[in-house]
Amino acid sequence: MGSERITLLSKRELDKMRQAGQVAAELLNYLDTLVKPGVSTKELNDAAEQWTRDRGARSAPLGYGEPPFPGSICTSVNEVICHGIPNEKQILQDGDIINIDVTPIVDGYHGDTSRTFIVGSPSPLAQKLVAVTEASMWRGIEAVQPGGRIGDIGAAIQEYAEAEGFSVVRDFVGHGVNRVFHTPPQIPHYGTRGKGKRLRPGMVFTIEPMINEGTHEAEIQSDGWTALTKDRKLSAQFEHTVAVTADGVEVLTKLA
Ligand code: MF3
Ligand code: CO
Ligand code: CO
Repeated sequence: MGSERITLLSKRELDKMRQAGQVAAELLNYLDTLVKPGVSTKELNDAAEQWTRDRGARSAPLGYGEPPFPGSICTSVNEVICHGIPNEKQILQDGDIINIDVTPIVDGYHGDTSRTFIVGSPSPLAQKLVAVTEASMWRGIEAVQPGGRIGDIGAAIQEYAEAEGFSVVRDFVGHGVNRVFHTPPQIPHYGTRGKGKRLRPGMVFTIEPMINEGTHEAEIQSDGWTALTKDRKLSAQFEHTVAVTADGVEVLTKLA
């Protein structure tokens, strides 16, 4: 851990990350218009792939990792925590919640962002989970400042989410992102204020809390990717890519 190198991006590289982040944000807005009952997660995948290619960009998830991820986006429905694989047999139903996680590569740089969308009219509990998860991400983002610590971020998220009666996933964390999809540092969404590595201007990483209705424990399906809650209760997630600046934080995947 101590020898992990955290890249500080130059002004030029930050500008590339800004451009990738804007493309990622636009892609999520486009997918938002397609999410409705009756659409399959494969249709969402194919629309995202086409949109990305039309932009001259590439989908980072496709073929990523081991086993190679078989989709262009992650589509994580209800009890799926993250890394859900798009499937033509999976049709969105009224009341579902679905996280869509996109990562276009634009001119070599990754824009990594996700949102949980509500399909039709979900239960009050599902609506609360989604609202608390998004707000927890913003608490984490607001905890970022130069000279602060990585633990400040997780502490802010965890305190808020647990006070609302939910749990924070431990097995997946935020990450540095630049020309490389996943690079140091790791950004846990739980932890202790004042602990962990110091935040410095030029660091770029994701904050992507996964918040569960029940237990925080996860299990991976035999496809090697799909992560679901052990108790099969609901899970939601939101993600932004952020940069530490001289006086605070810049959210690169928020539409300017
Ligand atoms: N976009 C995800 C993240 O936030 C990673 C997806 S890896 C994949 O880190 F292979 F599943 F696409
Ligand atoms: Co992501
Ligand atoms: Co990420």
